[in-house]
Amino acid sequence: MGSPTTDLDQTAPVREPSPSPLLRPARTAARYAVRHALPARYLARAARQGDPVARLMRDPDLRQQPYALYEQLRAAGPLTPSALGLVSTSHAVVQDVLRSDRFGVGFDLARVPGRIGRVLRFGDELDASGVAERPSMLVVDPPDHTRYRRLVSRAFTPRATAAFEPMIQRTADALLDDLAGAQGPVDLVDGFAAQLPVLVIAELLGVPTDRRADFLRWGAAAAATLDAGLPLRRYLAAERGLRAMHGFLRQHFDRLRRDPGDDLVSRLVGLPGEEALTERELHATVMLLLGAGFETTVNLIGNAVVALDAHRDQWDALRAEPSGWANAVEEALRWDSPVQLTGRTARAGVEVAGRRLPPGTRVTVLLGAANRDPGVFPDPARFDVTRANAREHLAFSAGVHYCVGAGLARLEAEVALRVLSERFPRLRVAGRPVRRDLRTLRGFEVLPVSLG
Ligand code: HEM
Repeated sequence: MGSPTTDLDQTAPVREPSPSPLLRPARTAARYAVRHALPARYLARAARQGDPVARLMRDPDLRQQPYALYEQLRAAGPLTPSALGLVSTSHAVVQDVLRSDRFGVGFDLARVPGRIGRVLRFGDELDASGVAERPSMLVVDPPDHTRYRRLVSRAFTPRATAAFEPMIQRTADALLDDLAGAQGPVDLVDGFAAQLPVLVIAELLGVPTDRRADFLRWGAAAAATLDAGLPLRRYLAAERGLRAMHGFLRQHFDRLRRDPGDDLVSRLVGLPGEEALTERELHATVMLLLGAGFETTVNLIGNAVVALDAHRDQWDALRAEPSGWANAVEEALRWDSPVQLTGRTARAGVEVAGRRLPPGTRVTVLLGAANRDPGVFPDPARFDVTRANAREHLAFSAGVHYCVGAGLARLEAEVALRVLSERFPRLRVAGRPVRRDLRTLRGFEVLPVSLG
């Protein structure tokens, strides 16, 4: 593969300068101060003053059931001021903002002015960077975004995704075989919903599946870094998870450089010449795929099982007519969205919902609320797996950052739910499910079920 110069590039990747270990605690403190301690203080003050979005960010009880608060925000208008900038619950506005090239996700460390910028740059460290830090494609605007996205999207075409179906089916069957012998209630998240996505993404990325328990542990801690304003102990746990993942990835890349397979990561580490990714780009890209690959689909499967348990007639109807599962997955994505919010910043002056927004305006889009917009989804709080336009939800975002793995996630969830209903038709939630304490992601950490 490639010219001799290319081979040289592959065997001698440019290493990031490793920051002095002596400075590590100071860097951690800098990151924590700017990304979490300051936002936490700001949000706490705004919550005390009654800001509904700040209350949502601060109050775990409110996050258990955010939908009444979303309706309160909706009543205030399609674009309302909040502690997180302007916020929208409107399907039309959210879609416009996500699709508009006048908005970007970009937040470039190099350009943040003043003392905060200096602290951020000092705290910047590859091994502690999360899935939503540059140069992760999630937070990069075109043209760089286009380049990263093109490199991975080939692995997610409808054809490539469909080729995974037999593997997903086999994996789901094997996981349920293991559960079948259990006496009494089992935790469906730990035993099934979390395992299936991690096994699938491990296959796609050429990662040994025997490391999956490690990924799940690291990922569960690291997922919190999508949220700002974490308490110190949670941040430190998240950082440990991130460091462990980056350490693993470094060894994985070295292994694939020596002995490439035909997986996506082997292709990424072996890109020739001008296409080659820097070490930081490689880490950011693969870390995002790994994290996004298993920290979201687990939530979709868990949320769907709980919704169907509460709407038993629909579970029974789907068992009788399994062709309905694809739409049931769309309705679960709409009704209780695994990713509740994201945000954009105006790159230029732009008009939204009749308002002129100056460059730099931040807009938080509440995907979970847009998916319950009564103007698009009649009787939106009703869970209905036969809803004709369920697929118009924005649970996978829209525009250039539309989820790369949407097709794979849909397939995994559809197979998972179908197999589960065939194998355990009398499955019931048995005990109180426990939600994950996260703001951006919404799903269950523990889901006790009896298999019947
Ligand atoms: C139910 C499961 C999933 C949900 C709800 C979900 C949701 C999302 C959302 C909302 C975004 C865009 C965020 C934004 O616009 O700011 C996104 C982006 C992304 N997702 Fe997913 N995702 C899921 C599964 C997956 C899977 C299985 C993979 C990969 C294997 C994946 C890979 C990605 C990547 C790489 C991006 C970044 C795309 C870009 O910036 O161009 N996701 N996802």
